[in-house]
Amino acid sequence: QISTALHGLKLMLTAGPTREAIDPVRYISNHSSGKMGFALAKAAVAMGAEVTLVSGPVSLPTPAGVRRINVDSAEQMLAAVMQDIDRQDIFIGCAAVADYRVADVAAGKIKKSSETMQLALVRNPDILATVAALEARPFTVGFAAETHDVETYARDKLKRKNLDMIAANDVSVPGQGFNSDTNALRVFWPQGNQDLPATDKLSLAYQLLSLISTKITKK
Ligand code: PMT
Repeated sequence: QISTALHGLKLMLTAGPTREAIDPVRYISNHSSGKMGFALAKAAVAMGAEVTLVSGPVSLPTPAGVRRINVDSAEQMLAAVMQDIDRQDIFIGCAAVADYRVADVAAGKIKKSSETMQLALVRNPDILATVAALEARPFTVGFAAETHDVETYARDKLKRKNLDMIAANDVSVPGQGFNSDTNALRVFWPQGNQDLPATDKLSLAYQLLSLISTKITKK
């Protein structure tokens, strides 16, 4: 049976990739499909939460009962998150936010000329760290997409971004991480950790949210 452990709680999450424009017809992005974040949104509704899903461009239907806000870029995602973060009890950053954006987006389509070209990039704001730095912040959960030294990098992000919890996935393993229907998570929080073995993303979503619900009541 499904637990109602999130009943009465407001949960916001980000999902999918961001797109950083180069010119009106091109962009920089990544392989996130939104499946992990949308599974979390669906599971959170079933567990009784009031869910706001801030989604990058993906081709997934909105789970029933979810309030969805569509964005393209990291800066738009940050603005959408900040608009309503004050009301939230839980924030989960599942989006694969582009770390950099193009410094000067061309107003017209860039024409090819020389054999090589260079794009100057500037750092994007860190949405998760911005939320975690708020004075009255929600229970803040990050994801970490790693290809090696998963635990070291995940623990570093937990500490450096001042998170309550982080769910790490090894995206070098076939069938896990970006665009797959299955995943496995290694979850870390300041006083402990738990491995959630490979299964479909919806089952993992329920397991991660159950874990969050046990920590949030202890706060
Ligand atoms: O969408 P799917 O195809 O189902 O794939 C799921 C997933 C692999 C994208 C997901 O499980 C996942 O790992 N999401 C986080 C991807 C990521 O960008 O990880 P990161 O280690 O680069 O970032 C760490 C954390 O900081 C993440 O919570 C990220 O949302 C957040 N972040 C990063 C950069 C930035 N500018 N702002 C952020 O908020």
